[in-house]
Amino acid sequence: MSLLNRAVSLTLPLVPKPIVRHFSKRYIAGSTLDDALKVVSDLHRQGAMVTMDILGEFISTRDEATINTEDYLALLQRIHDERLHETNVSVKLSALGLLLDEKLCLENMRRVLQAVSKTGNFIRIDMEDSPCTTATLAIHQALRSEFGERVGVVLQSRMRRTMDDVDDVAREPANFRLCKGIYLEPRKIAYTDPELIRRNFVLALDRMFELGCYVGIATHDEILVWESLRLIRKHGLTSDQYEFQMLLGVDEQLRSILIDAGHRLRVYVPYGAQWYAYSVRRLKENPQIAGHALRAMLVGVRS
Ligand code: FDA
Repeated sequence: MSLLNRAVSLTLPLVPKPIVRHFSKRYIAGSTLDDALKVVSDLHRQGAMVTMDILGEFISTRDEATINTEDYLALLQRIHDERLHETNVSVKLSALGLLLDEKLCLENMRRVLQAVSKTGNFIRIDMEDSPCTTATLAIHQALRSEFGERVGVVLQSRMRRTMDDVDDVAREPANFRLCKGIYLEPRKIAYTDPELIRRNFVLALDRMFELGCYVGIATHDEILVWESLRLIRKHGLTSDQYEFQMLLGVDEQLRSILIDAGHRLRVYVPYGAQWYAYSVRRLKENPQIAGHALRAMLVGVRS
């Protein structure tokens, strides 16, 4: 961990909320759905598709899980009412009760999936840290057998188990998001060498394409973008058989390069009242982000 990253993450709890807000506003679309929808319209104008995420993972009561479920139902209804065709949603299962009671979480997800099916939308189940992996894949499997192509899941190339998970999930037609994985995991279960995380990304993507899966290729690492383009060409894919995905506020230049070249690109748009807890946790979980954010801010200030 570089000195800069360590310094930013250690001093974070002392930083006043408005300053954390300043850091995070580039990456978080606001605290309300109305704030977020302004960002979504802007992204649509730039030719990007969107996936919306309501911040609020790792809750401690069943009531909070119910409130989060209701928020997702309201979000899906609003997307439908405003005819935002290129907008789907992403969810972290811990926000719907995964760590309190898996059955409760599955029931909450069933309610959400019924709304997804009714409105003709799609929901992506984000992947959280390793204690959630097996349960997340099990819930995804249960929902997929009930709701089919309306639901997809995320795999992380950081994890040693990922190649097995690709084959396991893709026994039936699958829709993946592939990313490196944001949570720092122990070496016993995860690759820690950045070059191996990259190579495993390429290996997993190649296998996903070979198995006929639709993949949301989620990275801002230009070497991985290059490798992905190589694999897209190798498998002879057309532009409706995959998409690139990027986080709000990160490398907007690479985003427009991909859109201008005719690729579909989806931006991940997180929003919600929990923006402060989310920002602090992300920076603590992976202090590298602090470095990225600070660098992005300084470049912004200079230009
Ligand atoms: P890398 O970390 O090497 O970043 C490449 C460059 O991008 C950096 O040098 C920096 O300039 C810039 N950058 C990357 N992240 C940044 C940030 N946060 N702020 C500012 N600049 C940044 N993870 C997970 O565990 N579960 C999940 O469900 C998801 N979902 C998800 C959705 C989408 C659409 C994306 C793009 C990413 C995720 N992730 C995720 C996060 C992912 O696992 C990974 O941590 C980040 O994408 C960073 O990895 P890169 O591949 O971009 O490479």
